[in-house]
Amino acid sequence: MEIVLSGIRPTGNLHLGNYFGAVQSFVQLQHDYKCFFFIADWHSLTTHPKPENIRRSVKTILAEYLACGIDPEKATIYVQSDVPEVLELYLYINMNAYLGELQRVTSFKDKARQQPDNINAGLLTYPSLMAADILIHKANYVPVGKDQEQNMEMARRFARRFNMMYGTEYFIEPASFHLSEKAVKVPGLDGSGKMGKSEGNAIYLADDEQTIKKKVMKAVSDSGPTEPDSPKPEPIANLFSMLEIVSAKSTYDYFNEKYNRCEIRYGDLKKQLAEDINKFCSPIRERIIEISSDEAYLNRVARAGAEKASESAAATIREVRSIIGFGA
Ligand code: ADP
Ligand code: TRP
Repeated sequence: MEIVLSGIRPTGNLHLGNYFGAVQSFVQLQHDYKCFFFIADWHSLTTHPKPENIRRSVKTILAEYLACGIDPEKATIYVQSDVPEVLELYLYINMNAYLGELQRVTSFKDKARQQPDNINAGLLTYPSLMAADILIHKANYVPVGKDQEQNMEMARRFARRFNMMYGTEYFIEPASFHLSEKAVKVPGLDGSGKMGKSEGNAIYLADDEQTIKKKVMKAVSDSGPTEPDSPKPEPIANLFSMLEIVSAKSTYDYFNEKYNRCEIRYGDLKKQLAEDINKFCSPIRERIIEISSDEAYLNRVARAGAEKASESAAATIREVRSIIGFGA
């Protein structure tokens, strides 16, 4: 069976963008592929987070993945740092990764600009670690957004280079699985762009009803159209996209018609939107609360995931060692 793999850095809670843009697809993919979903806690060290924050974020993502419907019986869900074989492959990849090519990666250049006092080697070799994550399980497909395309290109390049160097066809080149073609782009409600953690405009799956309401009522709108059937300016188009994502079609049509007739009242639209977002989030939120409080269950899931992932990783490392010339 073909293999799908995805990693997420533990940097807080999942928001609606993560859900509709990624996690929802993972839940579907686990039925048709052998899936590995892991929490990239080693990757998160590039920014030197506090130990208590890593611990909390890893648990949060794990609980939220499970609450969204990722099934540990179907998919292998694990914490990266529970599978040390990844580091061995990272070392081998680094021996054939060149300073110049790593320095040219856009996300490295961006990060170096953002954190000029902490341009560490982990940041530089981020693409090597990501390649190791992927190649260790010989993943065929990696669902990623556009921002990860260059890292994926590096992973393919490192796979090819290893094969060339040792005259083998050992690693397959992992393909990017473009979620953006299938998944929805969730807009921000602050006027422009997408919903994102770093944009500070996110509605989180764990937000309670009041918080959701507050965030939605604050959404940017305008004084309304003055001509029938006017095009929608971006903030308004974003509100409608959000309705399209979480509300019934009849709700969308109702407000769309009001808009086209210049009778729209954004207060009403936002109230309905907040209600529909809450209706969508509340069962997930309840499961998040339930699962988060069950420490023993979370530990069991992480341990079982680590075991399955280690088995697959150890097999790769055994073969790679032999190809490289280690051992008998
Ligand atoms: P953030 O930028 O909010 O920290 P990440 O970049 O960690 O989010 O996103 C993790 C995954 O969620 C990626 O696969 C990304 O494509 C998806 N994602 C994040 N925000 C959105 C959004 N607003 N719309 C659709 N998908 C999104
Ligand atoms: N770099 C990815 C991100 O920032 C996270 C990640 C790490 C990843 N290793 C991976 C994603 C392997 C896919 C496959 O979003």
